[in-house]
Amino acid sequence: MEKELKYLDFFKKRSTLRRYSSTKEVSDETLEALLEAASHAPTTGNMQLYSVVATRDKEMKERLSPLHFNQPTVKGCSVMLTFCADLRRFEKWCEERNATPGFRNYHSFITALIDTALFAQQFVTLAELNGIGSCYLGTVTYNAEKIAEVLELPERVVPVICLTVGYPEDGIGFPPASDRIPVEGVLHKERYKDYTREDIDRLFEYKENLEDSKGFVKENGKETLAQVFTDIRYPGKMNEEVSETFARLVKRKGF
Ligand SMILES: Cc1cc2nc3c(=O)[nH]c(=O)nc-3n(C[C@H](O)[C@H](O)[C@H](O)COP(=O)(O)O)c2cc1C
Repeated sequence: MEKELKYLDFFKKRSTLRRYSSTKEVSDETLEALLEAASHAPTTGNMQLYSVVATRDKEMKERLSPLHFNQPTVKGCSVMLTFCADLRRFEKWCEERNATPGFRNYHSFITALIDTALFAQQFVTLAELNGIGSCYLGTVTYNAEKIAEVLELPERVVPVICLTVGYPEDGIGFPPASDRIPVEGVLHKERYKDYTREDIDRLFEYKENLEDSKGFVKENGKETLAQVFTDIRYPGKMNEEVSETFARLVKRKGF
């Protein structure tokens, strides 16, 4: 059966690209064509509750860079895309057509967030199919308030997803694909089957035994790879602070 399915290998081999060509730019024409096609992604009620701000200007990248903890991919990309959950355009339309929108709530924010994520990922897929790489920047939600200021986002518009985009560096290309948990580890048939200790051992065994993983554990003076995630990469205190500042912004934007 798998033989009849298309594109599986392409997806299994894809990878995030963080370093880009300094000579070949993603043109406006290419960017717009990809975004136009990506906008055909499914969207709640066909409302398209998102917008995207493209940043090419060097000075703007310099202002955004520290807000993404100076990840080098920001200054090195051809174009940076900040995808926003956006109720503004749709609400304006409603108000101008004698319709009273009821979107100033958490549920509508989540709806817009889902629409935005589907649009962004569709863009990523189309870009990759055309040899253009990208890197998501989770830091967008860490410093969303300041990013919103720099990009002059009005009320009802919240930055939720960020991508750096560009062609691969000449002669280097895309990095190798990274590991994933076997599909039996994420698929539950009919009902959720909880994980036993043996399941956890089996599902994480491959990841834990990668040379890179062992290196991260050693470099960080930790006992396990999981501790690298809980203590170094995504510590609870940081997650709580980000939760607070992000929730404040979402509220301030009228959700
Ligand atoms: C929401 C989200 C946030 C991410 N944030 C970052 C980031 O801030 N910096 C980075 O280098 N990669 C980031 N990534 C990329 C992931 O590290 C990458 O997708 C993951 O390690 C799997 O690798 P792959 O995309 O090459 O398969 C992010 C990915 C997602 C989906």
